Amino acid sequence: MKKPSAIDYYSSIASSFRSISDSRSRYLNSVDDLVCAQLSATKLDSWLDVGTGDGHRLHKLMNTVVANNVIGIEPVESLALEARNLLGTRAKVIKTSLEDYRSLSYRNFQLVTALWNIIGHSEHPEQFLSTAYEAVEKGGHLLFDANNRYNVRYYGFLSVLKNLIFDVLGLGQKGRFLLTSPSGKISTIVYIANPFEVRSMLRSIGATNIRVLYVDYTSGARANLFTGQMLFHVIRE
Ligand SMILES: C[S@@+](CC[C@H](N)C(=O)[O-])C[C@H]1O[C@@H](n2cnc3c(N)ncnc32)[C@H](O)[C@@H]1O
Repeated sequence: MKKPSAIDYYSSIASSFRSISDSRSRYLNSVDDLVCAQLSATKLDSWLDVGTGDGHRLHKLMNTVVANNVIGIEPVESLALEARNLLGTRAKVIKTSLEDYRSLSYRNFQLVTALWNIIGHSEHPEQFLSTAYEAVEKGGHLLFDANNRYNVRYYGFLSVLKNLIFDVLGLGQKGRFLLTSPSGKISTIVYIANPFEVRSMLRSIGATNIRVLYVDYTSGARANLFTGQMLFHVIRE
């Protein structure tokens, strides 16, 4: 039987999305602070937020990062509806995935964000990154965070050792793991990246100005390659 997609997964947990998000608030707030700090100007012309969820995070970020045109895209209907209600006229929320949105619109943005491991829900992460990067205008910013399968502090020493051995020997599913909902009722495949893999994907799509920062998934403190998840900041050249 086919595994449920990310959309099936998030549709099934939509009613508890807020409490799941609150339980991760230290990490999410730290990433938000870093996102704001990375942007040289906090007044922008256009901003595309990919995977807006229920819109709370975009709403909060918009207090610091101001853009004339903000578009949020979210494929899960109930979450897109919540985001639309919350954001009102401050942002346009479209119920769609990044892939479907870009097949219809070639407009580019000064800022593209994809926050909280959205890349991890893509069956083809390199294609996802390429689509997101192409949506950034020259000189603009792509900011996304991704879970890190070398994060010993969060996943544990033995799991990371196994991940490293598999990567070195070219074994296993290259970071594909089963993600089960808190109720245990639904599972989907999630991609957990490593920093070298993401860098190499970004280089293969032509990105050169790449910065990665690490953030502890529990405390939100700044971390390193083996202790944190990854926030990537790419400036399109
Ligand atoms: C972990 S949530 C993050 C939501 C929000 N960015 C936040 O930080 O609160 C991941 C979101 O990405 C959405 N998503 C998954 N695949 C997507 C895709 N291909 N394009 C756009 N959104 C996607 C899911 O529906 C879900 O709402």
